[in-house]
Amino acid sequence: MLVVTNTFYVDPAYHEEFEQRFRSRMGAVEEMDGFVRFEFHTPVDHGHIETETHAAVTYWESMDAFEGWTESEAFREAHRNPPPEEWFTDDGPVTIHEVAFDADGE
Ligand code: HEM
Repeated sequence: MLVVTNTFYVDPAYHEEFEQRFRSRMGAVEEMDGFVRFEFHTPVDHGHIETETHAAVTYWESMDAFEGWTESEAFREAHRNPPPEEWFTDDGPVTIHEVAFDADGE
């Protein structure tokens, strides 16, 4: 299984607005072939740091499934209207991991 993490470096002043964008997202990704799971991660030390590291994490059955989504109308539609640049302190990476094994050794 593939885990794709899109990391965002967010100005704490825009914490709520940024989180709200994801709360009200379209959710079209859930309909894609090979989609497994979506999580939105928010830092626990909110309010004590200059840059917050948030992450939009998706799980996919395969690389083909993930790439299929990035080339889809659903992806384009979800990203048609990005937030203002001032919400971010820097560009964050997109990292792709494979689940090598889990607690059951599987
Ligand atoms: C390969 C790169 C990216 C991945 C894997 C990714 C991942 C995701 C996922 C899983 C969603 C939810 C889609 C849905 O519910 O249908 C989403 C929406 C969103 N993404 Fe991305 N994203 C990427 C690039 C970007 C970039 C460059 C930005 C720029 C800041 C961005 C900002 C957002 C925002 C703000 C939303 C919420 C929807 C909205 O505000 O209209 N994403 N993204």
